[in-house]
Amino acid sequence: MKRILSCMQPTSHLHLGNYLGALKNWVKLQDEGAECFYGVVDLHAITASYDPEQLKDATREIAAAYIAGGVNPYNSALFVQSAVPGHSQMMWLLATMSQMGKLERMTQYKDKAGKDKERAGLGLFAYPVLMAADILLYKATHVPVGEDQKQHLELAREIAATFNTRHKVDHFVQPEPYIMGGATRVMSLRDGSQKMSKSAESDLSRINLTDDADTIAKKIKKAKTDPEPLPDNVKDLEGRPEALNLVTIYASLADKSREKVLKQFAGKSFSDFKPALSELAVSKLAPITSRMNELMNDKAEIDRILAKGAERANAVAAPVLQETMDIMGFWKK
Ligand code: AMP
Ligand code: TRP
Repeated sequence: MKRILSCMQPTSHLHLGNYLGALKNWVKLQDEGAECFYGVVDLHAITASYDPEQLKDATREIAAAYIAGGVNPYNSALFVQSAVPGHSQMMWLLATMSQMGKLERMTQYKDKAGKDKERAGLGLFAYPVLMAADILLYKATHVPVGEDQKQHLELAREIAATFNTRHKVDHFVQPEPYIMGGATRVMSLRDGSQKMSKSAESDLSRINLTDDADTIAKKIKKAKTDPEPLPDNVKDLEGRPEALNLVTIYASLADKSREKVLKQFAGKSFSDFKPALSELAVSKLAPITSRMNELMNDKAEIDRILAKGAERANAVAAPVLQETMDIMGFWKK
């Protein structure tokens, strides 16, 4: 039986990369009948500077985006990380089996810490250990994420193996990264060599799930492209990262292969392709945006869903934490 777990940080609005690279796949797994845990990882969100006034609403917004994107809170446990105490407790236990050298090699840490490592926070450094705790605490078998999280998943697997070897047990499950579908790395609309991200300066570089139809159309119209028409096969998109990105986005939104999309648009220029992409993106995203807005107007309902989700998550997490502590030899009353 598959047990799925994945999470996102409540750091800002979700974008098309989060939707196509992660959320859309979460919903697919849920609808295939897997047991799913989807978290809003607020403890991760405080590793960068943040506004305490906004954290609660950002947390609710991400939960609303999950639901609007198709997560069914009656099937999947939708929880907030800080509401399940096992996450931080497990993190400490796992921190004692995590090597600093490995943490130093994490590319996300290197990117975020920048040049001045002396001033980087311990939270930022230990971020992947907390992520390993999120996963191992549920004995998750599969973790659907975008490609950028593969290295963190590898570390979680190593920590699980270290624990099992050190204590001569078969306790933690090795989580498999689940990198699904064709849009595992959606690129910026302004620069095909950069991934679409929450933190990129230009809002024109990403499509947010909160954008209205006009904004989506404007961003696609302004997206960087090249002057060549579209080819009839994927191989000929080599060396054309912006064109490849738009075709990938189209294919993923339409649930078609890139080959099929290229058969449809072969020989067409971007002035023909972009309006079709806009129309498709709006038709897929507008219902999500409007459902999200509806939910955000009913915070009490979101809070009820999150309270139930925390209860369900804790019912699985607490016994795993206890078992872990028993193996490690802790006193208990
Ligand atoms: P983050 O925005 O870093 O909190 O990421 C949340 C989830 O979205 C993770 O599973 C990421 O791998 C995924 N993700 C983020 N950016 C992209 C992107 N540009 N393309 C595909 N997946 C992404
Ligand atoms: N680090 C992930 C990201 O930036 C978010 C995350 C935290 C996560 N804990 C997780 C993803 C556990 C999957 C499983 O996107």
